Amino acid sequence: MQKNIIHVMVVEDDRDEAELIGTLLTTAKIPEVSAEAFRVSYQTTLRGAMAEIAKEYVDVILLDLNLPDSGGLDTLIKLRGEAPSIPIVVLTGAYDRKLAIDVLHRGAQDYLIKGKSDHQLLLRSVRYSVERKRAEEELKRIQTQLIQAEKMKSVGRLAAGAAHEVKNPLAIIMMGIDYLTRKFEGPDEKTKMIMQQMKDAVLRADYVVKGLLNFSSLKDLDMKVTNLDEVLKESIALVRHAMEKRQIGIVTDFDPHLPMVKIDRSRIQQVFVNLLTNAEESMPDGCQLTVKTYAKKVESGSSVGYRTEDHFVPGQLSVVAEISNTGPAIPEEILENIFDPFFTTKRERGGTGLGLSVAKSIVDQHKGLIRIYNREEGGVCAAVFLQPVD
Ligand SMILES: Nc1ncnc2c1ncn2[C@@H]1O[C@H](COP(=O)(O)OP(=O)(O)OP(=O)(O)O)[C@@H](O)[C@H]1O
Ligand SMILES: [Mg+2]
Repeated sequence: MQKNIIHVMVVEDDRDEAELIGTLLTTAKIPEVSAEAFRVSYQTTLRGAMAEIAKEYVDVILLDLNLPDSGGLDTLIKLRGEAPSIPIVVLTGAYDRKLAIDVLHRGAQDYLIKGKSDHQLLLRSVRYSVERKRAEEELKRIQTQLIQAEKMKSVGRLAAGAAHEVKNPLAIIMMGIDYLTRKFEGPDEKTKMIMQQMKDAVLRADYVVKGLLNFSSLKDLDMKVTNLDEVLKESIALVRHAMEKRQIGIVTDFDPHLPMVKIDRSRIQQVFVNLLTNAEESMPDGCQLTVKTYAKKVESGSSVGYRTEDHFVPGQLSVVAEISNTGPAIPEEILENIFDPFFTTKRERGGTGLGLSVAKSIVDQHKGLIRIYNREEGGVCAAVFLQPVD
């Protein structure tokens, strides 16, 4: 759909009536609707209407129930079955109270009587139907989001429970391995290797458990006013060794006037380490990774708005840290899954798929945003938006 243009499909077999409706719409001079233009297309049969919605975006349908190939409520039921998301305004010849109620029950947005609809009535009905339908769709989207959020909460609770159960046995195994290592004076190479393998396996399990506990963290944050550049420098220091091994250079571009943020330093550091590690893992040897900070007004997007669950209002200032890497793009079809716990494309390399879900849960706790997208010039950018201290 083109911005501000409403595509109205008039389904009416009486050509004069259809043209009249078209003229009323396209010559609208009413101030409240003049910002929007209408594009009107015409169909005279139900079959024609169905063919048009199959190939074109239609914003609203004005529907005469009695057509050459279908009659009465059946026409509405069939068309709605084909296009449940397009608002339909029913046109009838005469007022019939029962029919009016029936069509509304069957999902029509409104009911108009032919010949009795002036400019204003017609325009208002079309515009309100489109808006009401949009509001319904928005409500549906929010409900889906809420269900998703609830799902994540229960995953978090389950994970926390499992992690607590596993933590203590792991600690006991680790102590056992340490004891046995000390007990064996000068063990042979094979025993030494097995001991080391056992230790590595326990450390890895411990890493997963810590990740799960962090993801579902019920602990309070230790919030302090902090300079984000400092936290980034510390995080880079933690991954520098791994980068140097692969001759990956790190270019920094820090804003010297960056507003301060109020954060839990160690947790945000963990976010950056996770993002830096992801960047490193997807870059070819010898390339450069860029870390940048700046202040920016947040534009629209998910979690930006005026609802209580939104973290930013549009146009609000945010402190941004951006980690960009060269390398392959993330395939479109997995972009929406990368924040899911245990989603990984690096299973065979030992990836757990917890890095981004932990990062997102920490950033959410800070009422911030995290966005990961494919850059036009290739590679990936991960941006974290945090609240500046007022
Ligand atoms: N910078 C990036 N470039 C390309 N793909 C990425 C990037 N960051 C994340 N991904 C994709 O998102 C997936 C999930 O990332 P996440 O950090 O959650 O898990 P992981 O890196 O696979 O494992 P873990 O971080 O637990 O070791 C990755 O497996 C990868 O497919
Ligand atoms: Mg990762």
